[in-house]
Amino acid sequence: MFPIAVLASGRGSNLRAILEAQQNNYLQAQVGLVISDNPEAGALKIAQEFGVNHHVLDFALYDDKEDYNRRLIKLLTEAGIQLVVLAGYMRLLSPAVVEAFPYKIINIHPSLLPAFPGLAAQRQALDYGVKFTGCTVHFVDKGMDTGPIIGQRVVPVLANDTLEELTNRILKEEHILYPQMINRVATNKVRIINRRVAVQEEEKDL
Ligand code: GRF
Repeated sequence: MFPIAVLASGRGSNLRAILEAQQNNYLQAQVGLVISDNPEAGALKIAQEFGVNHHVLDFALYDDKEDYNRRLIKLLTEAGIQLVVLAGYMRLLSPAVVEAFPYKIINIHPSLLPAFPGLAAQRQALDYGVKFTGCTVHFVDKGMDTGPIIGQRVVPVLANDTLEELTNRILKEEHILYPQMINRVATNKVRIINRRVAVQEEEKDL
């Protein structure tokens, strides 16, 4: 099986969706490792619940960034990880980590990139007044939410949406998109030509 690691800093609803997809035999990969930079992350409890190997890499406990990166790269390499899946990982990966895993790191972002990169993407979409937004899974490069786009799902922004309503509508689509896009990469269906990701065959919805 294609071993993947999930890196998460927060509540971990995407991690749960990925692990449920694995439990349902939908996922064509196996979560071998969960890593969090936050000892309080809900994602760690979810990893425990599903019996997945998990580690805390608390940034505060490392003397310098390089130490932290070395430890992260070592953990991923030793576990034979083929794909690193960022699911609400709130730390920008350093160039050393990105270089160690070229086109082997993916991220999910709650907007239709390149619109609204960075923090509070749902708030940005509401404030701008767009009529549609959504979520994006993309390869990670050295920039912030700038790598080649693997897939997207669209949701409408309704006239009276609160931030919470819009966030939840997007999150529901994230939970469908992420397992699909992991499969897309794990089964070698994507080719990157310049910065465009060509897909050989679209997968069915969950
Ligand atoms: C999601 O909205 C994801 O798009 C963003 O961070 C959030 C993580 O949520 N990158 P969760 O921890 O997976 O519930």
